[in-house]
Amino acid sequence: MFDFPLIPEQASSYAGDVDNIYFFLVAMTAVMAFIITVLVIYFAARYHRKNVDEIGSGPHGSVKLEIIWTIIPVFVVMGIFFWGTSVFYTIQKPPEDTIEMWVVGKQWMWKFQQPNGKREINELHVPRGQAVKLTMTSQDVIHSFFVPAFRVKQDILPGRYTTVWFEATKAGEYHLFCAEYCGTNHSKMMGKIIVQEPVEYAEWLVSGGTAQVAASSDPTEAGLEMFNALACNTCHKEGSSGLGPTLNDLYGSEEELADGTMVLADDTYIRESILNPAGQIVKGFQPVMPTYQGQVTEEGLTQLIMYIRSIGGELPADAAAESEAE
Ligand code: CUA
Repeated sequence: MFDFPLIPEQASSYAGDVDNIYFFLVAMTAVMAFIITVLVIYFAARYHRKNVDEIGSGPHGSVKLEIIWTIIPVFVVMGIFFWGTSVFYTIQKPPEDTIEMWVVGKQWMWKFQQPNGKREINELHVPRGQAVKLTMTSQDVIHSFFVPAFRVKQDILPGRYTTVWFEATKAGEYHLFCAEYCGTNHSKMMGKIIVQEPVEYAEWLVSGGTAQVAASSDPTEAGLEMFNALACNTCHKEGSSGLGPTLNDLYGSEEELADGTMVLADDTYIRESILNPAGQIVKGFQPVMPTYQGQVTEEGLTQLIMYIRSIGGELPADAAAESEAE
């Protein structure tokens, strides 16, 4: 549709949906502004005072007119509401078969991790025609992940995970911007999303890759190594013999805390439990775990989560969507 340079190229599966609603709103606003302007000018000319002694008449009410100009706008704005909501849900809820990548923002660069553990800086390779879900966090201040061609913009916050998904529809290179002022070099915090044909992407993924990429081992294995290196395994044993709760089958389940509340064991919960263990104590356990704040990098947290996921279950579909919508 609207393929002129005033707006960025449409390069994701939902870019057209976002643009349609945007252009509808612009068109509707323009039409209304036009009608009102014309009427203002016409009425001013038609009904202005013709001599100084003239006294105008008071307003006349019209129930019929009041009803019409209430009912019609109600239908129009409710239509926009339901339309907008359906597009919002499309954007918020990733489809079933996404591949997952990790993003860490920091002053002033983007760090990415591919599903096989391969890392990139300021460049993210993705396959065309495949839904990709990004789980993102920040190492310092608030950043915002903005890819105009995909109509994707999501804040990245320190201390929690936010997610976006997109399906790139055309091979090529697309700008990535930081859209939240994050300090001196905010305007230089840019990157590239490189969309490749699936076969090319698969080849790239296992190759040495471009500069700046350190091919690393499988993130789940790296997570297990770290789990043992940090001695997590001495307390979090299989079964109920350890000082801490077992982490087998934990991921995706509901945990009961000491104060009786139930929490969903998702990425954010695990992250919080590593960095601020005293914040959420599982029922039946003592607050004996030290914090690992400062001892584990964001990438390390990602790897630990990948490991804990690998020995756990799945997030319930509803909960996954809910935690994304947050
Ligand atoms: Cu990061 Cu602005």
